[in-house]
Amino acid sequence: MLIYAHRGARGYAPENTMAAFRQALACKADGIELDVQLTKDRQLVICHDHSIDRTSNGSGWIKNFTLAELKALDFGSWFAPAFAGEPIPTLEEFCRWYVTTPLLLNIEIKNGPVVYKGIEEQMIYLLKRICPKDFDLYNRVIISSFYHPSLVKIKQIDNRVKTGVLFADHPVNVLSLIKQTNADYLHPHWHYLNRNWIEAAHEAGIGVNSYTINTQEEFDFSCAQNIDGLFSDYPDRFTGSRIP
Ligand code: G3P
Repeated sequence: MLIYAHRGARGYAPENTMAAFRQALACKADGIELDVQLTKDRQLVICHDHSIDRTSNGSGWIKNFTLAELKALDFGSWFAPAFAGEPIPTLEEFCRWYVTTPLLLNIEIKNGPVVYKGIEEQMIYLLKRICPKDFDLYNRVIISSFYHPSLVKIKQIDNRVKTGVLFADHPVNVLSLIKQTNADYLHPHWHYLNRNWIEAAHEAGIGVNSYTINTQEEFDFSCAQNIDGLFSDYPDRFTGSRIP
């Protein structure tokens, strides 16, 4: 069972900041999950909501800010005073740190309802530029999205890049979902886990990683459905490690 730190270990630090990503390492998570969008000047930045209102001292939509404008804001104080001044990270800043770690990575493309045209090409280009030659990009990184055309696009750009289909509704026919997207993983909400369709996915060679699992009950239920990995705000609860 692989444990991904959801938006970094967001139970312990402001989500999608370098502080949260460092906390994921301290939690002994196997991997990090984060969200990527584009600024007004087409810079790849890490943020979950399309609006910055919840997680910064600013207000408005990511797509309407330049990177310089976002960098002037505080993405840490909303969580706790100890994180005051924590900046929004770019995907490049994150990746330069990430490649020095042993962690897996799940990048979620935040397309829909805002659709960032060309974000897929830009991300793949960045990953290939930053990752060292001996970095196993095709086995360490999964790109996921609720916006499935982005996953089709990723496979068109480079079929070796692993993709994960996010869904927040009951899977009507998981095998057709896989066929439509050519994805390697299914990423369902844990409410929709069921051993039967998970077995069908496994037989088709597809892994299942589920979100967002924070309690022992959710963990026990999900394990019993035979998932391969999970996303948690508190990865240490399931890795057996302790936060220093
Ligand atoms: O990628 C798993 C999980 O992060 C999906 O939900 O709302 O955090 O994007 P959300």
